[in-house]
Amino acid sequence: MSVPTIALNNGIEIPQLGFGVYQVKPDQTKEATLTALEVGYRHIDTAQMYRNEKGVGEAIAESGLARDEVFVTSKLNNGFHAHDDALHAFDESLERLGLDQLDLFLIHWPLPAIDVDFVETWKALEEIYASGRARSIGVSNFQPKHVRRLVQETDVVPAVNQVEVHPFLTQDEVRAVNAEHGIATEAWSPIAQGLVLDNPVITGIAADHDKTPAQVVLRWHVQRGDIIFPKSVTRSRVEENFAIFDFELEEAEIGLINALNKDHRTGPDPDEFNWIP
Ligand SMILES: NC(=O)c1ccc[n+]([C@@H]2O[C@H](COP(=O)([O-])OP(=O)(O)OC[C@H]3O[C@@H](n4cnc5c(N)ncnc54)[C@H](OP(=O)(O)O)[C@@H]3O)[C@@H](O)[C@H]2O)c1
Repeated sequence: MSVPTIALNNGIEIPQLGFGVYQVKPDQTKEATLTALEVGYRHIDTAQMYRNEKGVGEAIAESGLARDEVFVTSKLNNGFHAHDDALHAFDESLERLGLDQLDLFLIHWPLPAIDVDFVETWKALEEIYASGRARSIGVSNFQPKHVRRLVQETDVVPAVNQVEVHPFLTQDEVRAVNAEHGIATEAWSPIAQGLVLDNPVITGIAADHDKTPAQVVLRWHVQRGDIIFPKSVTRSRVEENFAIFDFELEEAEIGLINALNKDHRTGPDPDEFNWIP
């Protein structure tokens, strides 16, 4: 079963399903990523903040896959928003990953209350993009007003905006603003770290399709058009999360899952999060 790709606004194709490594311990990351690559994932989502880029790079090298077969994303850490710091931190990411090019590099958080404006940070990412060392650039945790400002004040429209999305936080407004500007939505914590899996609407739909609750939720994301990268260090779950392209939810089922929204964040509110590690 092959994973569909989505064309970003610069024509680069990204696999719609990838593997996320947030909270994967640095010394377990190579093994977990190798498992995902063996199962068939060809898109890995890491970040400087996760402290595990090295393990991701080692797994890609050891997998024997050609560089252009794996889509690799990393994200700028919160302490490096100043222009020169961002350029330097990007170089360090490449070094840790053992790569000479990233497929996607994101500003991890907008940090609205820190001194460095994210527009300045974005200009550094535009330089990285122009140099060819990132095939695409984007943002994460940007609220509609942040997206609008960036589009108005800079040259390159972000390829993606990676935000928390799951059935309890459907993010209709952010997704609409992204779509309006041709920005693909990436949904982080797609199963809300497990929180949504025992909801009776979801378990009921899962039973009807002879699928698991996680598969139903991931399939819901796919049919809504978002890009996802569920995380698991458990091989059986890595396989389970990959087996979502052999069934289809009906529109009515998608509507029932949409209706579970309660604007519930499991992670920080981007308007208030200004944490620097
Ligand atoms: N940009 C951002 O600010 C941001 C923030 C958070 C996450 N992310 C990205 O999004 C990725 C995914 O989000 P996430 O890791 O927070 O959460 P998630 O993928 O929604 O959930 C991961 C959790 O669910 C468990 N799990 C995975 N598959 C399962 C299954 N089939 N059945 C039951 N439980 C399952 C995992 O357990 P085990 O590992 O123990 O199996 C883990 O505890 C991250 O890895 C990261 O790449 C980005």
